[in-house]
Order: sequence, then C-alpha cells, then structure tokens
Amino acid sequence: MVDVAASSFLDAYDAAQQPQQKLGLLYQWIATKPLALFKELRTRRPILVTPGGPTLLAMFADVEEALTRNLQFTVKPYAPKMDPAVGPFMLARDGTVYNQRDKSIMRALIQQADLPSVRQTVAKIGAKLIAQGASPDGRLELVSQVTRPGPIALTGQYFGFPGPDLTAMLRWSYATQNDMFHNLTDDPKVHAANIAAGAEMRSYLEDFLPRRAKQVKADPKLDDVVSRMLRLQTPPQIGFDQGRILSNTMGLLVGGIETTSAAIVQAIDQLLDRPDQMVAAKRAAQANDDATFDAIFWEALRFNPMAPFVVRLLVEPYTIAAGTPRQTTLAAGTVVFASVASAMHDGTVVPDPETFKPGRPAYHYLHLGFGEHRCLGDQVSLMQAPELAKQIIKAGFCKRAAGAAGRLDFKGGPFPESLVLTK
Ligand code: HEM
Repeated sequence: MVDVAASSFLDAYDAAQQPQQKLGLLYQWIATKPLALFKELRTRRPILVTPGGPTLLAMFADVEEALTRNLQFTVKPYAPKMDPAVGPFMLARDGTVYNQRDKSIMRALIQQADLPSVRQTVAKIGAKLIAQGASPDGRLELVSQVTRPGPIALTGQYFGFPGPDLTAMLRWSYATQNDMFHNLTDDPKVHAANIAAGAEMRSYLEDFLPRRAKQVKADPKLDDVVSRMLRLQTPPQIGFDQGRILSNTMGLLVGGIETTSAAIVQAIDQLLDRPDQMVAAKRAAQANDDATFDAIFWEALRFNPMAPFVVRLLVEPYTIAAGTPRQTTLAAGTVVFASVASAMHDGTVVPDPETFKPGRPAYHYLHLGFGEHRCLGDQVSLMQAPELAKQIIKAGFCKRAAGAAGRLDFKGGPFPESLVLTK
C-alpha cells in the first residue's frame, strides 16, 4: 500500500509505472478516502483521464454537465446488473419508454401531498423501533434496530410492498444494491446473489400483486403507491402492463433501503464528531423544528455522502467543460465516475466548502443525484432520512458507545453494518 499521508495522491499515481498499478491505487483511495482524493483532483487535475480505466469528474459544473447530457453520458453500465434481476428499469435506460413512461407514472403516484403523512408515519415507525431496540442498559445499535428496519416498514406502509418478512426484504435489498451499485469488479458470487434475490422477489410479487389488486378493488379506502399503480387504467398502446408493475414495485425496495440506512448512519456519525452541531440537532429535534434539523442533517451528510460518484458510459465523443482551461475531449466508450460527493465540496460553486454551514441552497446538495436520473424517492427521502435520524437523537441517543462498538463499522462490506449509541 502506498502511503499518501505525507505526499500527494497524484504524485503517487504519476509515479506508478503500470496502468494496472495506477488503477489499483485509485480504487483503493476511492474506497478509503474519496473526499481527500477528490480535493486534490479539484485543484490539480479536475478531469482525470486514466489509462484504460474510468475518467473522474471532480468539479460541480462538470458533474452537472455529464448528468444533464444523459443521451451521451448514459446509464448503460447498470443494465447487465439490473436487467436480469428486475427486468428493464428506468435507471438502466436513457431516452427510452422505460425511463420516460415509467418515471412519469411513478412520479405521478408518489405525490407531494403525501409528504406530511409520510413524515408522521416515519416518526411513528422510528419511535417504535427505538423503544423496542434499545437495550435495558441504554444502548442502541442503529443499523439493525432502526436504519434498516425503518425504511423496510415504510416500504410496506407507504409504498405498499410489505414483503413476506423482514429477513427476506433485507436479503433482497442487500443483494440487489450490492451488485447493482458496488460490484465494480464484477464478482460472480455477488451477481448470482442479485439474480437469486430478483427471482425470489418476482415469485413473491406474482402471488402478492393479484391478491392485492382484488383487495384494492373491494376497498376504495386502501391507499399506497402499489395500490395506486394497480388501480391505474392505461390503454394497451401505452404498454404499462403487469411486467412493468412488477419491475417498478421491485425498484421501490431496491432503491430505498441501504441508501437510506447509509445516509442516516453516516450523517449521525458526522454529528458525533461535531458536538456543537449535535447539540443544535438535539435542540431542533426536541422542538420538532424540522427545517432546522433537516438542514443540519443534509449538511452533515455532505462530509461523508452516501455515494462518492455515479457511473456513466459515454457513447459518443464529447468535449466536457468546453471553453474552460480544463476542457477535455473524451472518447466514445469512456466510463465516467461523476463525483457528486466532490461536487458538493467544490468551492467555485459551494462557498466555504470545508465549513459546516447548515442551510445552504438545496441545489448545492447532490445526495439524491442530478438530472434525468435524479432519485425517484427524492421527496420521500427528504422526509424519511432526517426524520429517522431525528427520532434517534430526540430519544437521547447522542453519544458513541465506548470502544469499537461506538465507531461506524462497515465490517468489510459496502454498507454501514453497525454503530452503537448511548444516551
Ligand atoms: C436517502 C436515501 C436515498 C439516497 C441517498 C438515494 C440516492 C439516489 C441517487 C444518487 C440516485 C441517482 C443514481 C444515478 O444517477 O446513477 C438515485 C436514483 C434512484 N433512486 Fe434513490 N436514493 C435514496 C432513496 C430512495 C428511495 C426511498 C427510493 C424509492 C422509491 C429510491 C429509488 C430510486 C430510483 C428508482 C432511482 C432511479 C431514478 C431514475 O433512473 O430516473 N431511492 N437515488
């Protein structure tokens, strides 16, 4: 392992002789210290073209540019992971009926008017899980007790995909997310687990959805996103058929659990490192001042975002950052890592990026992506993630447990697995 503590990432990268060595170093740094790596890239090489590997985009403007031009910077890299598990899906297509029609329909079913009641539902789910999950000696393990089961409960209660039990839902969510978003080295075991999860989910939904359709017909008061989908009448020419209902229902689980869990745990971990901000967060939580609490939450997450970058495949030659000194022409076939995490620290757009300043303009935050593929669950997530964190902090869990248990632990995997707090 090359130690870059005393020198620079780029010096070590440039000194490496073989392309494979360079890429090995980059992947290692992306996994272990992405913000430090991207900080140096922003000043020294904001568009890093690697030999035979991905091109890294570090600047806010370039990340937004790539994510806006989705017919050039496409989501094709997702297709081999998503298609065999959930079928053709909006996040693996550009400029097709799958993303245009399906996202429009799903956006219409997830209504802004639902949000106040979504927030109340999340508050109840959180309070109950915390009461059940706290040990008699006043300890709470966040991931197993709150941040994974909480979003699973909301997926049942609001999205309308309850699943057979918590264990199956967690297994399906983990296996699909792991392969679709974290299997950069194409580990066949990880891919096989994703396909198995997709098959199990499909078999459950093939039984559940027709039963649910009957219940929904019989009881007009039943209301959740899946029920709305089942009630929807579209002509055959539109093609929003049973297969589409199935894929889009699966997407509600795949997209919403590990993402939300990571966001909550990583934001709280940042607050634990900033006692003043934790005090302010606790005060806001106890006063139910959601605007103040949420601003602290999303700012905290900026210091350890859920995703360092999103991946795209450039399908035609393209000059990015045209007219600037960093302008670079990229070849068709270039894989691009558009670093939303780096963009949120780019001082040319985000003033004083290293300072913790709640209340920055909403467009400075790219936690939920940008452009055509911005998160479908964005509005729900703007409620769900901070509200679960708020319940944890409101209940008084604001300190790390002693020793290793009180440290955020990924246990060698792609997602946060454990963080124990005390009062
Ligand atoms: C805090 C929690 C969440 C975070 C941080 C998050 C993050 C993201 C990001 C960064 C993207 C863009 C991916 C890309 O451009 O490659 C995305 C897309 C997506 N997310 Fe989320 N997400 C969260 C919660 C959810 C929830 C609750 C759902 C359930 C509906 C969901 C469903 C989706 C879907 C379906 C897409 C694809 C949208 C498209 O292709 O147009 N996500 N999410």
